[in-house]
Amino acid sequence: MEKHWWHGVTMYQIYPRSFQDSNGDGIGDIPGIISRLDYLQELGIGGIWLSPVYASPMVDNGYDISDYEAIAPEYGTMADMERLIAEADKRGIKIVMDLVVNHTSDEHAWFVESRSSKDSEKRDFYIWRDEATDIRSGFTGDFPGSAWQLDETTGQYYLHIFAPKQPDLNWANEKVRKAVYDMMNFWVDKGIGGFRMDVISLIGKDIDQLITDDGPMLHPYLKEMNAAALAGHDLLAVGETWSATPERAKMYSAPASKELSMVFQFEHITAMWENGNKWLGNHFDVAKFKTIMAKWQTELGLEDGWNSLFWDNHDLPRVVSAFGNDKDYRVESATALAIALHGLRGTPYIYQGEEIGMTNFDFQSEAQIDDVEEKAHIQNVLREGGSVEDALADIRTVGRDNARTPMQWDTTENSGFTNGKSWLAVNPNYKEINAAARGPIFEIYQQLIALRKAEDWVKFGEFELLDSPENVFAYLRSSENRHYLIVANLSDQVNHFSSEWAEVKAIIGDAPINLKDLTLTPWQAFIVEVS
Ligand code: GLC
Ligand code: CA
Repeated sequence: MEKHWWHGVTMYQIYPRSFQDSNGDGIGDIPGIISRLDYLQELGIGGIWLSPVYASPMVDNGYDISDYEAIAPEYGTMADMERLIAEADKRGIKIVMDLVVNHTSDEHAWFVESRSSKDSEKRDFYIWRDEATDIRSGFTGDFPGSAWQLDETTGQYYLHIFAPKQPDLNWANEKVRKAVYDMMNFWVDKGIGGFRMDVISLIGKDIDQLITDDGPMLHPYLKEMNAAALAGHDLLAVGETWSATPERAKMYSAPASKELSMVFQFEHITAMWENGNKWLGNHFDVAKFKTIMAKWQTELGLEDGWNSLFWDNHDLPRVVSAFGNDKDYRVESATALAIALHGLRGTPYIYQGEEIGMTNFDFQSEAQIDDVEEKAHIQNVLREGGSVEDALADIRTVGRDNARTPMQWDTTENSGFTNGKSWLAVNPNYKEINAAARGPIFEIYQQLIALRKAEDWVKFGEFELLDSPENVFAYLRSSENRHYLIVANLSDQVNHFSSEWAEVKAIIGDAPINLKDLTLTPWQAFIVEVS
């Protein structure tokens, strides 16, 4: 198997708006990120997935791009961006850009021209129809409604799978594809480490057959993209693929497919949603989690392709609140969740603040939220006869702003995020939860990252799920006749676990000496070498 740098690194996602403000306008920015690179180096990460920093009206906080080759003024300048790439590089950190090419902003010059007349040169850059068909927007229960928007100028409808200000690009148009690949090369030439591809499973859509996700042209386009913009550089290319199964993941990520390096699969996230809709409920079911993870570890074999590992991102609630216990066992559950995940094969992604156990926010009013999807949810709940209070209760559980409250750096005002007025309130728990103190969760993440970097068994070892009580995730990783046991009690209850293996050496966490008839305290987790 061909080895790449991204097999052994842990990535870190930065949501620029909420990471570090440098000029007091209350909005995180690129100079702010540069000022925190030493912290990230200390954590040990090998790359940053940078959520969009491009010019944008910020309807979806940068996932609505108006110019792919310009930086949003509130985030800085192209010179700042180049400095970020260079400064990160000095610290062994690569910058992975967010590639949002299923759609642009309606303020992108392409769309402005496209909507101006039926015969404009860029008309076919987007998807126009005389009539709205049955396609719904809202891809994962977000942005609900019709996906067609009537445009007065020409009396036709354009397609938008997301918000109306995010028109879908017409990938069937060769000129669109060429323009996207040129833009990618513009960034590759700047020395970036790769791309995280936003909702990439939507680009091969066949509108007339009402197929949006995983459409017939998806893989041909990805092969073309690879040849035009990725081949010849050792880049990390990770696709956001909500519907990926291990079989589909192979199509994307098998080296022979020449498409992507890895996928973000979401099965362990969406399986916890009531009826596949996060707004109906989100409950961590450990038995399901174990089955799903074991399936991915075994069915996507070493030669078949590559997976990523994550709990959190800018679209998900904070894992310690959603799946852990942020009240009674915050530190214990955050570390147990980290150990359970980071012992697996795949490239782990940490979302900013996860490494210090940041929690969900107690949103109490509409004025406290910002997210376009949350606002759409409020409208929906009202339309269905519910109240704003009902909607806020859902938002507190699964709303995207939980992940977007500012990074908690220290105990000074606004947690050191800004000395102005923060665009989104800082969680009041920053006095206890902040990065200045580092603390036990940070240390465990640091150890997990270092372990992956150093040890081939973490990167490439075999996986075997072990028998254990329902709420205990226990597995073995093996490589060249050495064996490693990972045990995590993912619950508030005491659990028992017994193993025939004998401990050779404690590696991470609170490892007992005797592995026979163990009593695991709530959220106890460890990694040991065994024989
Ligand atoms: C992806 C992004 C999300 C965004 C959507 C539309 O799911 O992660 O934040 O709203 O795509 O670009
Ligand atoms: Ca700023």
